[in-house]
Amino acid sequence: MRMVDIIEKKREGLELSENEIKFMIDGYTNNQIPDYQVSALLMAIYFKGMTNEEAAYLTKAMLYSGDIIDLSMIDGVKVDKHSTGGVGDKTTLVLGPLVASMGAKLAKLSGRGLGHTGGTLDKLESIEGFNISLSEEKFLKQVNEINIAVAGQTKKLVPADKLLYALRDVTATVPSIPLIASSIMSKKLASGADVISLDVKIGDGAFMKTIEDARELSKIMVSIGESLGKKVNAFITSMDQPLGFAVGNRLEVKEVIDTLEGHGPSDLEELCVEIAGYMVKDAKIVSTVEEGKKLALEHLNNGKALAKFYEFIEAQGGHIDDLDHFIQVDEVFEYKANKSGYIQSIKALNIGLASMKIGGGRETKDDHIDPSVGIVLNKKIGDYVEEGDVLARVFLNSELTDNVLNDLNTAFTITDDIQEKTPIIKEIIN
Ligand code: URA
Repeated sequence: MRMVDIIEKKREGLELSENEIKFMIDGYTNNQIPDYQVSALLMAIYFKGMTNEEAAYLTKAMLYSGDIIDLSMIDGVKVDKHSTGGVGDKTTLVLGPLVASMGAKLAKLSGRGLGHTGGTLDKLESIEGFNISLSEEKFLKQVNEINIAVAGQTKKLVPADKLLYALRDVTATVPSIPLIASSIMSKKLASGADVISLDVKIGDGAFMKTIEDARELSKIMVSIGESLGKKVNAFITSMDQPLGFAVGNRLEVKEVIDTLEGHGPSDLEELCVEIAGYMVKDAKIVSTVEEGKKLALEHLNNGKALAKFYEFIEAQGGHIDDLDHFIQVDEVFEYKANKSGYIQSIKALNIGLASMKIGGGRETKDDHIDPSVGIVLNKKIGDYVEEGDVLARVFLNSELTDNVLNDLNTAFTITDDIQEKTPIIKEIIN
């Protein structure tokens, strides 16, 4: 087999076979096929696309390039979730303890945040003592004992994705939907769960900008998962504005606790309850999604989900001694409305960037994060505000710069016309 023939075939829009795709992935990860040939193939895929079968073959070849976590030591149905990344997205921290309290087993490998989007590991590590480096033995034991563990991904998980992603980044081929789908699904499948929920965000703060692209990505990912024997649901959700009110690691953990106490932001609660309903139904804990959602709401209101959260934090060495002093900042700046009217938009991208610039996120991989800083919105799209009302509170340990102020000024649009509240869940694909 020759790589040049594979490139030519895809250039002509023909379908690649499983062997051809495996040849390319194996050859690339073993340093036998050079970057320039793989770059050419990636560009051909970008323009000609892939069938669902090709995307599944690609995912499978990438999946077998590294370790696959064996969760067979854990009793029962294992569940997992993935978000394509957003601003204020603390869903895992609510959903994980919630479904664990209902009897599902969540064995999750998470990542860090970069740029305007946050990462679950950063939020967890903002809790004093929390350890994300668990041995495989401890990870499996913890899931068996308390139904939940969250750890960092190892370097051995899908090495082909790391190589391919780096190449896509410098060849302008990241936005190819089949390449995104196989990148995400190879990592999810390597993590070993039986039931996978995918939160595909759309909006200015998200990877996918349109419902059409989000739908196509969701359908390919569901099809890849099912062809490899998994139950997959994709939730297309809004990132037209940050999820919930809080953006910034400890501020988000605080909002997670509020939500687990049954008084969190309505969009965050609705999203978590919906995904939980599907997860526990697919894990065969209840027989319908509606029953699952009802049980999820009960667990948010009867303290069971909250108790599971603290049990999980403690099992991984974390502790929050005094919630009133959890957020430590020098200053809270009140950002106010410059006119009266209805909030038309709160650009998630700008809020994410502003939070990153004050130290709440990373601009480059090695940047240090200040766990306490961030932004808490006081209003959401559709709310009416009077001139001078507080739109957001900025939690700072440094001077507020004009650059950050500019991000806030461009984030909010206020208009005279009544604005509809945007639904959090746009579509569910399964
Ligand atoms: N997230 C991933 O893991 N991979 C992509 O290609 C895009 C987003």
